[in-house]
Amino acid sequence: MKFAARVSHILPSVTLGLNERTLELRRKGHDIVSLGVGEPDIDTPEPVCQRAIEAINNRETRYTPTAGTVDLRKAIAGYMKEVYGLDYSIEEVMASSGAKQVLYNSVLATADKDSEFIISTPYWTSYPEMVHLAGADLVVAETKAQNNFKLTPEILDAAVTDRTSALLLNSPSNPSGVTYTLRELAGLGEVLENRDIWILSDDIYCNLLFDGNQFASIASIPAFRDKTIVINGVSKTFSMTGWRIGFAAAPANAIAAMTKIQDHSTSCPNAIAQCAAAEALRRGPSLTKAWVNSLEQRRDLMLDLVGKIPNVQVTIPQGAFYLWIDVSAYMGKAGIQSTLELTDKMLVEGGVSAVPGEAFGTPGYLRLSFAVTEAQIREGVKRMASCLKKLV
Ligand SMILES: Cc1ncc(COP(=O)(O)O)c(C=O)c1O
Repeated sequence: MKFAARVSHILPSVTLGLNERTLELRRKGHDIVSLGVGEPDIDTPEPVCQRAIEAINNRETRYTPTAGTVDLRKAIAGYMKEVYGLDYSIEEVMASSGAKQVLYNSVLATADKDSEFIISTPYWTSYPEMVHLAGADLVVAETKAQNNFKLTPEILDAAVTDRTSALLLNSPSNPSGVTYTLRELAGLGEVLENRDIWILSDDIYCNLLFDGNQFASIASIPAFRDKTIVINGVSKTFSMTGWRIGFAAAPANAIAAMTKIQDHSTSCPNAIAQCAAAEALRRGPSLTKAWVNSLEQRRDLMLDLVGKIPNVQVTIPQGAFYLWIDVSAYMGKAGIQSTLELTDKMLVEGGVSAVPGEAFGTPGYLRLSFAVTEAQIREGVKRMASCLKKLV
């Protein structure tokens, strides 16, 4: 029996695969420190959980409109005002089953078969596969370490053609933690001015910022407000990864297009989770501010420890909860040819997990999460350093 061609054109998720392999080794009794995790290390806040319990007790358990309840859409609009300072009506927002579904809806809505879709390195692992599933041509704009892995107007200009239908931006970035300023976004905007190009702005880490950095979105630039599909959700800010609620804010025609796609794929997201997400969004980012502050201390600790490992270069993350490190100096040593092989060795022989740069289109790098305890950071980095030392 044959599968459709699209199955062989997409790759399985390296990050989810790594998670499963870590769990399997733990089940077999291995002691593994996981620096590969992509989720917050706090519980979902209590008032949010209480609202979900109340929703079950009230039997708020039926299908809702595909785009989400009016109550949730009002909460999303309120959050867009609080965090972005922007006004969106309830026809200009919608909820989906996680930011991942919002992304997939928005890629399907903007990427035609004969069009080009731009992403930049290092990119979140699912972006290319979504573009492949949509049948569009993927254009990967290569950024440079010396530019702090930022897309520059020059690099963007070289990537844009008459066939470009969309550009995907992610700030703060997973995996690099790199965060764009409003001025930098305006510079990218100049390249796109007078062109019919959608901007998909994946802002899922928008509240996880360090060093006093302020969040900026290209949607805040008036000329781009109606060309931007904002992608966001409750997974990271409110530690609600398993609740599966993401949302979009965009002009009403884009929301209508994405709602039509969702109508025929998953319908509404989980009704109970919608109630909980509305509670989280209404309470706002202050609900988890103490945790965000503690992340900054953990980032500094990890920066300090990793900075002491010979021949490793570090990008200082201004947001999210990952450290993006260059270990290319170790490639070719002791038969290790790729960071995929290196992370496998680290996992099996060294007892520490990290995500290889190949998952983000950038071999030679590793992504380490600092959303773990200080003790795990110390032990995990120690194990990684010892693995690297054995290679030389
Ligand atoms: C950059 C980025 N976008 C989107 C998502 C998906 O978020 P969700 O879990 O809400 O689907 C993630 C999750 O890791 C992410 O890192």
